[in-house]
Amino acid sequence: MGFEIPASLINHLRECHSAAALSGAGTSAESGIPTFREAQAGLWARYDPQELATPQAFQQDPRLVWEWYSWRRDLVRKAAPNQGHHALAQMAMHIPEFSLITQNVDGLHQQAGSPQVIELHGNILRTRCALEGTLIEQWMSAEDIPPRCPNCGGLLRPDVVWFGESLPVDALERAYHAADRCEVFFSIGTSTLVEPAASLPFIALQQGAVVVEINPQSTPLSGSANYVLPGLFSVVLPILVQAVWGG
Ligand code: OAD
Repeated sequence: MGFEIPASLINHLRECHSAAALSGAGTSAESGIPTFREAQAGLWARYDPQELATPQAFQQDPRLVWEWYSWRRDLVRKAAPNQGHHALAQMAMHIPEFSLITQNVDGLHQQAGSPQVIELHGNILRTRCALEGTLIEQWMSAEDIPPRCPNCGGLLRPDVVWFGESLPVDALERAYHAADRCEVFFSIGTSTLVEPAASLPFIALQQGAVVVEINPQSTPLSGSANYVLPGLFSVVLPILVQAVWGG
């Protein structure tokens, strides 16, 4: 299915010096990683991610939460960037100032070659001590589930942001800065439901940026965005990069 990119958007992008993109789980869907709000597969179907990705769940049943993340880590390890990730990495080469802000924890943008990815919600492939907060690369693979911190014996946990936890300050500041100064802001594959990420496109709108939403469904942003491209990430992004910069 061909996709028409409006000529006015093409012109904006050809003259653009500073752009930002916020990505959500929809950008990883075509790489085989279920989105946050899709029903989960297999034995995890009966669990609601919003109940597992919380400090309370980890407190109550650390083993269950660790095993859920182990399942998701395996999905991530098997996943590869899709054509949309590669197109986004190309876009960064054409726009002098380009900030890629992601809510995803799967590292697929980095794998596709996007530079300086701003990870608002951490990264599932990193593990940290739940007590000290330090990143831990290796631990005794004893029968302990979750494994224990080799330094202090505390429980290990994925280095991701759980519901109710604060986001990494540096990442959030860089994201606000990018939304505040960009000329074009893309919101791609996100339901625009979870704060503070969901405010970023509106901050961009307020300072006069051209806001482009790419999502097959409508979201709370759709009514305010300057452009809504109702297609799939892996289809729309390559067509857009080709239309603006000749691929
Ligand atoms: P959601 O699962 O809430 O939304 C995924 C969005 O992607 C939906 O709007 C879909 O319509 C869209 N989508 C699905 N397939 C797509 C495709 N092929 N191309 C483009 N769009 C597609 O995921 P997020 O919005 O990322 O945070 O959720 C935000 C946060 O909610 C997550 O980062 C997570 C959760 O709380 C934490 O874990 C802290």
